[in-house]
Amino acid sequence: MTIDWNEVWHTTMERHLASKHIGKDDLYWSSRERVEQFNERIKKNDWAKGRRIMQSMDISSESRVLDIGAGPGTLVIPLSRVVSHVTAIEPAPYMIEFLQGNIADENVENVDYIQKTWEEVDTDADLEGSYDVVIASYSLGMYDIRSALKKMVDISTGYVYLLWFSGLTSWDELYLKAWPRVHGNEYVPGPKVNLLYNVLYDLGIYPNMEVTKMEMEMTYGSVGEAVDDLADRFVARDEASRSRLSTFLAEVMRKTEGSYVLDVYQWSTMLWWHRDNIGGCGIH
Ligand SMILES: C[S@@+](CC[C@H](N)C(=O)[O-])C[C@H]1O[C@@H](n2cnc3c(N)ncnc32)[C@H](O)[C@@H]1O
Repeated sequence: MTIDWNEVWHTTMERHLASKHIGKDDLYWSSRERVEQFNERIKKNDWAKGRRIMQSMDISSESRVLDIGAGPGTLVIPLSRVVSHVTAIEPAPYMIEFLQGNIADENVENVDYIQKTWEEVDTDADLEGSYDVVIASYSLGMYDIRSALKKMVDISTGYVYLLWFSGLTSWDELYLKAWPRVHGNEYVPGPKVNLLYNVLYDLGIYPNMEVTKMEMEMTYGSVGEAVDDLADRFVARDEASRSRLSTFLAEVMRKTEGSYVLDVYQWSTMLWWHRDNIGGCGIH
């Protein structure tokens, strides 16, 4: 039996978003406050997150890099200090706003950006030639992942790097418990790296993989403070669902002296390959 992994990805993504009561264009990033908080985290310790990810990449001062779903510039800013040029693709208006601000603050001159989804980008009309390195870091919110990946392969003369989630994240674990109580329906986790691997495999791409675990504590002074911060994430939009979320969070947060803590973790995988190492005949 042949399984169409692209279809499985698509269906899982659709069921995931439907269970969360959000549309594809209404992801989390439609809140300016959330994007601002994300931007602050990303800029911490001189762009530590992007600098850490970059360490695993084969880049040089000659590299032309395409960063798909660049956000506020997580990789764009640290990459711009090392490579010759970076093109950022980013559809979310607030992300673009912070990306523009960061480009200006850092006096970066070798970066351009296109405000579109990757699916909307016309590689002939919108981009100037090919790229040595193509990156999509936690930005694979795409239904037709097969076409999106083929487009990345076509535009890359060297490496493609993808970062995505392995296994359930701590947020998935929390939502699985919270959704029936807060929203009255089951939560369906989004597609993970196993499906991505299978889609790539069927394209004749056998990627290298590196797995890391990220752990973080989110600390709040009160349950109310946690609800204010997390209501958006838990899609608690009215008073009744905020109140149910409050009861839920009071139960699951770890209580320490004077504060409430959520232990957040996720397993992430970096998948990468070089154009010369694409086997089989799946890609064309
Ligand atoms: C979690 S953020 C990651 C930002 C950054 N790459 C990082 O690693 O920190 C996901 C980003 O992907 C963008 N994104 C989501 N779907 C996309 C698509 N179809 N094409 C391009 N970007 C997309 C979102 O707007 C958001 O800025």
